[in-house]
Amino acid sequence: MPKTFFITTAIDYTNSPPHVGHAYEKVLADVIARYHRLKGENVFFLTGVDQHGQKVQQSAAKAGIPPAEFVKDITQRFVDLWKKLDVQYDEWAETISERHKKVVQGILQRLFDAGQIYKDKQSGYYSVRQEQFLTDKERGPDGEFGPEWGQVEFREEENYYFKLSQHKEWLLQYLNKRTDAVIPDFRQTELRNAVERISADLCISRPKSRLAWGIELPFDKDFVNYVWFDALTNYISFAGYDPSLSTFNSQPSTFRDKWPALQVIGKDILVPAHGIYWLIMLHAIGFPDDQMPQLLVHGWWNIGGAKMSKSVGNIVDPFVLADKYSSDALRYYLMSDMATGRDADFSEDRLVERYNADLANTLGNLLNRSLTMIEKYRIRKLTRPQSVKSNPVDEYGLRVSPTLAKIEYISAMTGYVPHLACQVALNLTLQCNKIVDAAKPWALAKDSAEREHLDQVLYTLAESLRIIAILISPVLPKAAHGIFDQLNWKMELSGKDERFSLADAEWGRLPDGHIVGKPVPLFPRIETTE
Ligand code: MSP
Repeated sequence: MPKTFFITTAIDYTNSPPHVGHAYEKVLADVIARYHRLKGENVFFLTGVDQHGQKVQQSAAKAGIPPAEFVKDITQRFVDLWKKLDVQYDEWAETISERHKKVVQGILQRLFDAGQIYKDKQSGYYSVRQEQFLTDKERGPDGEFGPEWGQVEFREEENYYFKLSQHKEWLLQYLNKRTDAVIPDFRQTELRNAVERISADLCISRPKSRLAWGIELPFDKDFVNYVWFDALTNYISFAGYDPSLSTFNSQPSTFRDKWPALQVIGKDILVPAHGIYWLIMLHAIGFPDDQMPQLLVHGWWNIGGAKMSKSVGNIVDPFVLADKYSSDALRYYLMSDMATGRDADFSEDRLVERYNADLANTLGNLLNRSLTMIEKYRIRKLTRPQSVKSNPVDEYGLRVSPTLAKIEYISAMTGYVPHLACQVALNLTLQCNKIVDAAKPWALAKDSAEREHLDQVLYTLAESLRIIAILISPVLPKAAHGIFDQLNWKMELSGKDERFSLADAEWGRLPDGHIVGKPVPLFPRIETTE
């Protein structure tokens, strides 16, 4: 059986509705998943929501409804958003589901039986308002806990702990050995430095008196799990992992055929959650080193250099943008204007600017003018030139090289940098527009001696558009379908993504005598007041 390409994203907290940062991560994973489908691979794309925890319990209490009802509403908002943004996942993770609870409890019980989890007493200063123990880091310059913590009291509390520090040496040697455990490089360095500093074990429980909204510990019904064993386990519980089987090789083949996953996460949850807790958890439950997931760490969208946050009130709502400009417009902006791994500034003006420049004026314009000319000069019928070169070079010194473009495109997608893949498709489009300007088909059409020449130019444009549509399909699925429809390419498969295949991005596939469709504006310009 061929290996399945398995990709996951962080599961989103359901204490508040989705914003554009959440959307970026899911679209990024969707683009990578679609690229692998384009290559003809089996893909398993898992995403979902993180429904337990203190914040949800608090938000639900504030709203005056039970947590289960509260998360149902917010979860629906996420589901609706992914549908709106054409995020096409194969499995949906909801941490309140029975299936997930069984796996989390199975894993906790196994680790408890193996002596990896123990009970201990913690004492210290506790903020009643924030419901957390405070450390010296929380003290102000005067040595006191500030008013933001409300009433602070000395408390003693028993909890369960996972022997995290016992696995520190293992994690260090694993990271030394595997240089691409984390992408990009500088994040692996950051993780390695953090691992060096591990000194304590991980508290994994809360007494039910403090937190009721969680998964009960299988070995003590007075406690719920808090928080990472619950959240992180989603990556395997929804992929068919069976906690009763202790070795990796005894896992069902449905799980082993997929695992390990490429895990897309934001920079804030690398250290300690994914880079430390998750890798150590997997190691502790028997995953061998060559079955460790790879972590692709992306940056954050900021607003004017500042963090997007509910309290500041600068949250950008992706529903509003998708309704106003279309799902493709938002996807294109998110993918083309951020270099994976780095931060970027979100700006609606910039979204409009890029849409108008790249999509309306460049790609939309090429499609429209090409089909209009094929209709006008050849009643929509293409003539395939006698010799179809793989790298057509014309006498204007302009080279349309879809073969080269494809190579660059594959390299960008393999390196998880969709902004460069967008650039490749855009460059090819720009070249074609230059060819139109230089060849002047309207002049060729008036000269019968230029008949073949005109056929060649028109074929080059249509064939380039077909290849461009394939290349942009992971980022712009709707537009790619639109171009295929207008080119009349494989209409019999209309509506299905399978009509896109990277193997078809080869020069010369449009047959002689092919009839193209009528031009329909694909990316209407967004009018701005300026
Ligand atoms: N629920 C946890 C993750 C558990 S994974 C087992 C969580 N949720 S979150 O809703 O706060 O964030 C979900 C993802 O969205 C994270 O990867 C986070 O980095 C990402 N983003 C949140 N804000 C973001 C931006 N402003 N920009 C880009 N991504 C951002 O963390």
